[in-house]
Amino acid sequence: MGTKKFRIPKLPFFLVLSNVVTLLLCLNVVFYIDGPAKHFSRAPPLKTDFPAEFVEYTSPKKLPGGYNSHYRSDTVSYPVGHKCVDLKEDLERYMTYEVNGTCPDDEKISQRLLLSGCEPLPRRRCHNAGLRGYEEPLPVPDCFWSMPPDSSVSWTAYTCKDYKCLKNRHRNVGRYDDCIDCFDLNYHEKFRWIGVSNSPADFSIDRVLAMKKPGTIRIGLDIGGSSGTFAVRMREKNVTIVATTVNLNGSPFSNFVASRGIVPLYVSIFQRLPFFDGTLDIVHTMNVLSHLFPDDLFQLVLFDVYRVLRPGGLFWLDHFFYVGNQLWTVYVPLIETVGFDKLLWVTQRKLDRGIEKDEMYLSALFQKPME
Ligand SMILES: *[C@@H]1O[C@H](CO)[C@@H](O)[C@H](O)[C@H]1NC(C)=O
Ligand SMILES: *[C@@H]1O[C@H](CO)[C@@H](O)[C@H](O)[C@H]1NC(C)=O
Repeated sequence: MGTKKFRIPKLPFFLVLSNVVTLLLCLNVVFYIDGPAKHFSRAPPLKTDFPAEFVEYTSPKKLPGGYNSHYRSDTVSYPVGHKCVDLKEDLERYMTYEVNGTCPDDEKISQRLLLSGCEPLPRRRCHNAGLRGYEEPLPVPDCFWSMPPDSSVSWTAYTCKDYKCLKNRHRNVGRYDDCIDCFDLNYHEKFRWIGVSNSPADFSIDRVLAMKKPGTIRIGLDIGGSSGTFAVRMREKNVTIVATTVNLNGSPFSNFVASRGIVPLYVSIFQRLPFFDGTLDIVHTMNVLSHLFPDDLFQLVLFDVYRVLRPGGLFWLDHFFYVGNQLWTVYVPLIETVGFDKLLWVTQRKLDRGIEKDEMYLSALFQKPME
């Protein structure tokens, strides 16, 4: 199909429109409502050297039933991240495949695209490779605290090639790394959030749940769910937590979390949370947000968390880290603009990278006001 000419409008302009679902909500709704179809038909056609499957995917599609009032158009467009077009080399590799065939084994490239702003990724019309010797997962509750079989992961993209390697990583590697020990379920993971820590920044789940009427914290989200332990501990309290996980540090976090019986949501920290306004009882996040991201990201995440929480819902900011007095100069003013009520607030030195880094932790529990 490669040489076919596609009549599509000028690309950057068009892509902005196609991405309206993920990006334009707060920017230019009026423009969109005004009628994208009108603009599509007026824009000049343009030859592109993007992969044929990408051009096909991003071209507006005629609705068989004609004009539809839900979509305010007689066409629909499928969303992709606006940065995809700037990442041509990776996009080329990602979108070049045999239709109906087996997808390239390219988890490294697809995650690289996603983390560079090509999010959501375009869908593909190919089959991901099967897993050789796959076994059904362990039943609940055995799956919560067992190492999954190696056959549940396609290991190509990862540094380790089996779970034994991941589990023992912290014993072999001296350097600092996020989550270096979190695949070892008999190590630190086992003792998190259960009230056995002396550290004041370690709130226990029982303490947090006790802030609300029993049973009223039922559903929620863990942003940056790590290896899934928070969600597992909450599930043991009958709270359903979805965990966002990307496969950082050469590790199959998504597979691991799923094997533990937790829903892994494959979205980055940069994307609008895919939940409707005012729906979740609790949002937790640990060790994800920090001074290593731009300040405006921190503020955007806070507003987004506020949006998805129901009135009276809890936001547990767990071990947010920053340097020196940044808390007061940068972060407190941002937190205060959002309008949460403050229930718990503890700061503490972060020492894992050395005291000379002058890093601090903040653990806090916020509540979205009832009105
Ligand atoms: C894909 O497979 C389906 C079913 O076998 C077939 O009908 C279709 O023509 C194939 N499409 C392409 C583009 O090869
Ligand atoms: C969770 O729910 C089950 C079934 O309703 C119940 O038997 C159990 O006591 C609950 N556990 C907790 C910790 O609330």
